[in-house]
Amino acid sequence: MSETLQLPQTTDRVAVYSALYPQVRELLNDEHDLIAAMANVSAALRQAFSWHWIGFYRVMGAELVLGPFQGPVACSRIGHGKGVCGTAWADEKTLIVADVDKFPGHIACSPLSKSEIVVPIRDRSGRIAAVLDIDSEHMDDFNEVDAHALGRICTLLEPLFE
Ligand code: SME
Repeated sequence: MSETLQLPQTTDRVAVYSALYPQVRELLNDEHDLIAAMANVSAALRQAFSWHWIGFYRVMGAELVLGPFQGPVACSRIGHGKGVCGTAWADEKTLIVADVDKFPGHIACSPLSKSEIVVPIRDRSGRIAAVLDIDSEHMDDFNEVDAHALGRICTLLEPLFE
């Protein structure tokens, strides 16, 4: 396959997600390594949307451990129930935070992050095995369109967990 993404030049996120999803699916086709897949998904999302930070944390014991990401350096470990990521893990649901300063216990890895979405990813047995964390420099940058589209993209990773 081609490793070049074809993305529409528009700010319409629905249109960008529609173009992106089949290309990410193709990119992951025949790739069995989870890290390689996460690395390309974070790069594809970065290319499509230019958000401040896009990356994965994997569940390892009682913590989330930093995985492939695009953006500035970030905290490498997050406890269960801590911050937005740890809360999405504990609650087993996607969290959209319009203003990170109003989220109790938010872990401020970068002062530039203003809003955030965290999507939990399940393994084949249904357990939360990782989260996708995206931070924006803009307030209130995520909504249900993102939750749905990012959830679909994350579902492509589920078969790759042990
Ligand atoms: N904001 C996250 C911490 C991770 S960094 O943003 C990359 C949180 O509160 O869970």
